[in-house]
Amino acid sequence: MMSNKILEINNLEKSFLDPNKNPFKVLKNISLSIKSGEILGLVGESGSGKTTLGRVIIRLLNSDSGQIIFNGQDITSLSKKLMRKVRKDMQIIFQDPFGSLNPRHTIKNIISEPLVIHNYKKNILDRVYELLHQVGLDKSSINLYPHEFSGGQRQRIAIARAIALKPKFLIADESVSALDVSIQSQILNLISRLVRENNISMIFISHDLSVIRHISDNIAVMNKGSIVERGKTEDVLVKPTHNYTKMLIDAVPGFKTNF
Ligand SMILES: Nc1ncnc2c1ncn2[C@@H]1O[C@H](COP(=O)(O)OP(=O)(O)OP(=O)(O)O)[C@@H](O)[C@H]1O
Ligand SMILES: [Mg+2]
Repeated sequence: MMSNKILEINNLEKSFLDPNKNPFKVLKNISLSIKSGEILGLVGESGSGKTTLGRVIIRLLNSDSGQIIFNGQDITSLSKKLMRKVRKDMQIIFQDPFGSLNPRHTIKNIISEPLVIHNYKKNILDRVYELLHQVGLDKSSINLYPHEFSGGQRQRIAIARAIALKPKFLIADESVSALDVSIQSQILNLISRLVRENNISMIFISHDLSVIRHISDNIAVMNKGSIVERGKTEDVLVKPTHNYTKMLIDAVPGFKTNF
């Protein structure tokens, strides 16, 4: 089957149990597709289900029902073993790089780990140096530990690791939310450049409309477990059709006049 879609999800549903052990739906009948090379911004308030959707898409969590087709392959019920192969092509950068980078490992180990796991055929050290260069970190960083870096630098390390195997698809979950605004735009520019250069498709998750506007070709707006609006970034932000989107835009002072 020829298709320029990298990802298609159909009717995804996911429930969790609340503290009283009653199920509540976090993903409600979500359908979405992403074209090859597209950067889709996924925006919505805290608790709307963005992270859960990201985790379900890359099968860190199982959905209750629905379908996930990645790169032409139905991965909805793929075994852990077969998923391992697919993971080479789909990576995630987590919200908190400090939490996701092993504090006892050097940068060299952290960045080479996916290369080792997936039997990288060429020289691993050369590739680590190349990646450090691509994300703007000095060669001399290689033997340092995560705590020896600033938040922005740690995010660069997480990016280097995520693109090490040249994935086809990347999920970035609140990747700049913990950073100062000036550092945010540096990291956003870096992600967007690397993603374009490597022809990676991406879902960029953020609760912050300004961040989403900066990086996305298209936007999907999530509210209480549903996608309520999807379209080109400018269309959605200039002429939102859903009240929830309007509310999100109105909640950011000066956002509308900022175009
Ligand atoms: N493992 C879990 N068990 C139970 N409930 C969960 C679990 N993970 C998430 N939830 C709940 O599911 C809902 C959606 O959470 P999720 O983290 O996906 O939202 P989010 O949009 O990413 O929010 P944020 O912007 O704060 O990161 C929330 O009510 C959350 O408390
Ligand atoms: Mg989240």
